[in-house]
Amino acid sequence: MLVQDAPTRTIQPADGGVEIIDQTRLPHEFVWRRLETLEDAAEAIRVMRVRGAPLIGATAAYGMALALRFGASDTQVRTAAETLAATRPTAVNLRWAVERMALRLQALPVSERLPAAWAEAAAICEEDVAQNRAIGQHGLALIRAAHKGDAAVNVLTHCNAGWLATVDWGTALAPVFAAQEAGVPVHVWVDETRPRNQGASLTAWELAQAGIPHTVIADNAGGHLMQQGRVDLCIVGTDRVAANGDVANKIGTYLKALAAHDNGVPFWVAAPGPSIDFHLASGRDIPIEERAPEEVSRIVGRAEDGRMVSVHLTPVGSACANPAFDVTPARLVSGLITERGVCAADRGAMAALFPDWV
Ligand code: MRU
Repeated sequence: MLVQDAPTRTIQPADGGVEIIDQTRLPHEFVWRRLETLEDAAEAIRVMRVRGAPLIGATAAYGMALALRFGASDTQVRTAAETLAATRPTAVNLRWAVERMALRLQALPVSERLPAAWAEAAAICEEDVAQNRAIGQHGLALIRAAHKGDAAVNVLTHCNAGWLATVDWGTALAPVFAAQEAGVPVHVWVDETRPRNQGASLTAWELAQAGIPHTVIADNAGGHLMQQGRVDLCIVGTDRVAANGDVANKIGTYLKALAAHDNGVPFWVAAPGPSIDFHLASGRDIPIEERAPEEVSRIVGRAEDGRMVSVHLTPVGSACANPAFDVTPARLVSGLITERGVCAADRGAMAALFPDWV
């Protein structure tokens, strides 16, 4: 996508290392950060310099290549895979990417593994871009169907499932970008997405860069807007879809799905193949990441003098809990927007589109 009018991806190999956009600095600063080692890649995922299920997977793939620069034995491949897989538990793309890398590499002689690791990581990134572009086209049909007269179509989204969460295009925002390209007027309600504020800081920044009309709202505002008829459809991303169609996504997604259901607003989930986990029978089995309570008790922002500051929100001593994801039951999901088309959130429909993944 465009950053200050220049085509940009979120991750790229560079001179034996890897460059990422440090998302902890957005929206106030756009800064590239260089990764040289396995630990650099693991740290970037753990502290959310990169985040979003597809981008976590792509970074882990490149993390394997970085690790192999220092030795490519079976043990080193296994250690790298285990280190990366342990960084964050919920997004299945992470495990999918490291398993794919490990399988590919262990089938090769040690001497061939390093170039193969770079090539496989690049292939994962190219596939991600193609999947998201296709999701954009399938989702565009849903936005077109909601377009009446001259009015903009109002899309509500939660968290950041735009291009910053992927290598390019995004998942939930890909249809919005496609709508803009196709000349379909669109306006996005952006949930701020406490506690890490991926909506307020990342989704809003992306949409502003693309010149797409948008309005940031407090997380609690979505239900009210739906009651007033000011939301035509919701589109969210996902970190993992279980085999029965239950959807894990950023905490707060479930409440939006309930509000959408109560108000007859379609609730779509953009889900590339690598986010579907046919190994887990239902959403009850999806591991939910618990993050530090300080993400709830404090907030980070830019002060008037330009410094980044972290300030207290809660009384010192109040306990805080921070489950980072929730599970929306399949019955509340209108359908999945995948790269192979739109389908119902149930095992049969998903398996019909992805027979090679079951
Ligand atoms: O904790 P994050 O920022 O890595 O959360 C992941 C997400 O960006 C969202 O849950 C998103 O909606 C799904 S990933 C496209």
